[in-house]
Amino acid sequence: MQAVQISHFGGADVLTLADLPVPRPAADQALVRIQFAGVNYIDIYQRTGLYKNPLPFVPGMEAAGIVEATGAEVIEFAVGDRVAFAMHPGAYAEYVCVAWQKLVKIPDSIAAEQAAGSMLQGLTAHYLAHDAYPLRVGDLALVHAAAGGTGGLLVQMAKIRGSRVIATVSNEEKEQRARSLGADWVINYSASDFSMKVKELTNGRGVDVVYDSVGADTFANSLTCLRPRGYLVLYGQSSGPVAPLDPGVLAGMGSLFLTRPSLAHYISQREELLKRANDVFSWLKQKQLLLTIAKKFPLAKAAEAQEALTSRKYAGKILLQMPR
Ligand SMILES: NC(=O)c1ccc[n+]([C@@H]2O[C@H](COP(=O)([O-])OP(=O)(O)OC[C@H]3O[C@@H](n4cnc5c(N)ncnc54)[C@H](OP(=O)(O)O)[C@@H]3O)[C@@H](O)[C@H]2O)c1
Repeated sequence: MQAVQISHFGGADVLTLADLPVPRPAADQALVRIQFAGVNYIDIYQRTGLYKNPLPFVPGMEAAGIVEATGAEVIEFAVGDRVAFAMHPGAYAEYVCVAWQKLVKIPDSIAAEQAAGSMLQGLTAHYLAHDAYPLRVGDLALVHAAAGGTGGLLVQMAKIRGSRVIATVSNEEKEQRARSLGADWVINYSASDFSMKVKELTNGRGVDVVYDSVGADTFANSLTCLRPRGYLVLYGQSSGPVAPLDPGVLAGMGSLFLTRPSLAHYISQREELLKRANDVFSWLKQKQLLLTIAKKFPLAKAAEAQEALTSRKYAGKILLQMPR
């Protein structure tokens, strides 16, 4: 099978197309023929070695495809089922073996590319809005990078939950996109100090929660946007990792809460995975949730696909399409 392999950590040039044997499923695994794989920041952190996988490895943490074979202990799935998964490695390949407990069935009404594109970011937006900080009707949330993959879905889910959303983006085109997704107010954080604007918009009160995926460039000002006892959900670092913090700072700024969650811990129970995926697929079907596929690249162009993700030029999901 064709697969992208990483033999040493580094830039996009370490993504090498290789001819590898089709893996054989263990007793609890299904062999999945991948149709589309999602391209995510975690793939880049694993490529550069910020997150250290044993070498060599096939990157890619989400995909959609078709079950081609099953191990003896697999239940719930059979050959021919359309399936998707997130937070399991090996998606930049034509085939991957996945433990059945990590798979979800794709409803007939959902296209494979929508399923592939909505797993990692969609399940993330779901746990952020429902569990990391459970949004309530009338809450005021600040969502950074709101025209981006996770941010765009999070804005929509926050609106489904009846919250009000202040969004940040870096240019006018993305401003329009954030508004079209339902943001009530949009701030261009490249052009002005977003924390000042948030203070103005909230008459000095601050927001109930900040969802921060940007990290280094936004973290300090995100804290200043919170009301006393507000929540900072730092879930990413697209501008770089955040420096260590003295917890005393949180007391001084109003007994703030800080969490640094990871999707893996919010889908580790199968019931949680199924509930989140079911909600995401239902909202996609009912068109309550819009998932934009920004661009599809062939597997062989994985390096270009990752560079597209970090370029900041695209709004929506970047996918890899398998050769057959
Ligand atoms: N913890 C979790 O469970 C979890 C799950 C999914 C993703 N994440 C993390 O969340 C972050 C965003 O992931 P995503 O997939 O949703 O990406 P994304 O939002 O689609 O893309 C990143 C966005 O960040 C903004 N940005 C601000 N400063 C940037 C910079 N210096 N370089 C690049 N982009 C910058 C850009 O929007 P503007 O141009 O509008 O600023 C860009 O569109 C990543 O760090 C990812 O690892 C974490």
